[in-house]
Amino acid sequence: MVLAKRIGQIKPSPTLAIDTKCKALAAQGVDIVNFGIGEPDFDTPDNIRQAAIQAIREGFTRYTAVGGIPDLKEAIIQKFKADNNLDYRPEEIVVSCGGKHSLYNLFQVLFERGDEVMVPAPYWVSYPPMLLLAEAVPVIVATPEDNGFKLTPERLRECLTPRTKGLILNSPSNPTGSVYTRQELEALAEVILEHHLFVISDDIYEKILFDGQEFVSLAQLDPELKARTFVLNGVSKTYAMTGWRIGYMAGLETVIKAVTKIQSQSTSNPNSIAQKAAVEALRGPQDSVAAMVQEFAWRRDDILSRLAQLPGVSCMRPGGAFYVFPNFSQYYKYLQPGPEESFSDVLANYLLEEAHVAVVAGSGFGEDNCLRFSYATSRERIATGVERLRQALEKLGG
Ligand SMILES: Cc1ncc(COP(=O)(O)O)c(C=O)c1O
Repeated sequence: MVLAKRIGQIKPSPTLAIDTKCKALAAQGVDIVNFGIGEPDFDTPDNIRQAAIQAIREGFTRYTAVGGIPDLKEAIIQKFKADNNLDYRPEEIVVSCGGKHSLYNLFQVLFERGDEVMVPAPYWVSYPPMLLLAEAVPVIVATPEDNGFKLTPERLRECLTPRTKGLILNSPSNPTGSVYTRQELEALAEVILEHHLFVISDDIYEKILFDGQEFVSLAQLDPELKARTFVLNGVSKTYAMTGWRIGYMAGLETVIKAVTKIQSQSTSNPNSIAQKAAVEALRGPQDSVAAMVQEFAWRRDDILSRLAQLPGVSCMRPGGAFYVFPNFSQYYKYLQPGPEESFSDVLANYLLEEAHVAVVAGSGFGEDNCLRFSYATSRERIATGVERLRQALEKLGG
């Protein structure tokens, strides 16, 4: 069977692949410590679940408006105003089947064959494949670890070409947990405006922020910038709602209308019941978010102090999200990757097989020196996992 060429350009998501592997091993009775998974280990708060049950009871089970029900759009508009001081109209908002879906559709609408889009590395695994599916060219811009893996205006300028059309920013970042400050965004904004770039601001980890930091979205900085920025957000991470598949995006009306048109010819509306639940998530009590963030902050400190005790491993202190991205390159001298493999793939596989610890290889995030750990797992599992890791690394020669 000959498949369309476009599908040959992309690989399955490595984060989902590791999860599949873990589930298969767990089904064989192997006790895996799973640092691979990119979702909160908390349950969706009860008030949100009750809203969904209520929606079913009331028979809210039919097709809805393709781009989201008016009530949810209104709740999103209020969220943008309250949290980010951003004003949007309903025509500037689209609700999709997860943030991933909004992004995929946006890339289809914004970019054409050959358009270059800057993707600062380390990046979330799905940006380059989604750009390739839109026939755009992902331009991977390496960022230095000693700058917290953040893009600087100098790096941005160096990589600009006449074909550069867009830039993706993700703060707090998956996989590094880095957070851009207002000053850092302002410095980038100058170059963005000078070169009339479109920006995709992936704010999905907005609320998972530590140490009393302020969250700043690029769109907040300047009205001209707001007109060039598409703000991506969703309920998956903030409200432990990954399975419900509700994400949303705000931006220029013409683009949002085109994104909605794609939905009208592909998925139709996002799930009606999940939309009602998302209204409750955004409008209801927010104390579960604060409790979750507090727990993540504790675990971040805990895993950092445990990793710091592993010889040859260094790790930047993340300001947000629920990931750490430690550097294991000191161990690469003991590894021999095959022709299609990278060092981080080999190490991640070794750790899964030898220690029964699942982590995601940095290669999928554009940084082969590191491994991504999600600490969305219990305190006890973190302790067990890092101890197993220590023993496996010792065996390797460290
Ligand atoms: C950086 C980033 N953006 C967007 C998403 C999309 O999340 P969802 O499709 O669940 O809304 C994810 C999920 O892993 C993510 O890590």
